[in-house]
Amino acid sequence: MRLSKRQLSALETMGIPAWQERVPTDFPKAQDQVPTEQFVPVNEGVSETSVPEAETALPIQDTSTWDWSTLEAAVRDCQQCSLHVGRSQAVFGAGSQQADWMLIGEAPGEEEDKQGLPFVGRAGQLLDRMLAAIGLKREQVYIANIVKCRPPGNRDPKPEEAAACSAYLKRQIELVNPRVILVLGKVAAHHLLDTEEALGKLRGAPYLYADTGIPVIVTYHPAYLLRKPSEKRKSWEDLKLAVKLAGGNL
Ligand code: URA
Repeated sequence: MRLSKRQLSALETMGIPAWQERVPTDFPKAQDQVPTEQFVPVNEGVSETSVPEAETALPIQDTSTWDWSTLEAAVRDCQQCSLHVGRSQAVFGAGSQQADWMLIGEAPGEEEDKQGLPFVGRAGQLLDRMLAAIGLKREQVYIANIVKCRPPGNRDPKPEEAAACSAYLKRQIELVNPRVILVLGKVAAHHLLDTEEALGKLRGAPYLYADTGIPVIVTYHPAYLLRKPSEKRKSWEDLKLAVKLAGGNL
């Protein structure tokens, strides 16, 4: 099947070489509903998690009644894990609170820690191009991270750090109530879906977030795509699936 001009231009925006125009595009039409049985409930079909218990158990606060300003103030002042020691500031999240799309990354990096905004470094620039490829601007989506404070040396967040932050992210998801959640990268996927499955196995099928009907799509982290541009083609397939689940059209 030939790609439309719009799809070709989307591929170009993401920096996918023109030869990939021959990639099969036999996706169902975007407006088609995905049958419920195609959803993989979180933790079903993936191996048992062995994420270790937090070494120092921290109280998970009940954030379920918090509004945006209460939530943001709590994150700004948060000292629930040791990441607060090294941060310049917490990176709460950004974008439209009414967004259809929620994007979830791993943790702020150096630039995000400086600016207080998610995905503003090089990976963020590629993320903007990925969004542009599906006709979205960053202001139209909501972007958050698993942990709100930069881990030292950009290491992966530890399980206890993710656990300490999880009630904040959960409330962000409840408040936005998006039509689709796009999870960026292995680390974010492992924490959000509570699995240790390889990213290559997690992508390509929709999951459901917790007890909600919100579909979750896993794709590669833009920082990984910068290192391995040949994987952008798979990421483009993930974006198309997410568009379909969000009820959109390409
Ligand atoms: N990588 C992430 O996972 N999140 C950011 O905000 C920036 C880089």
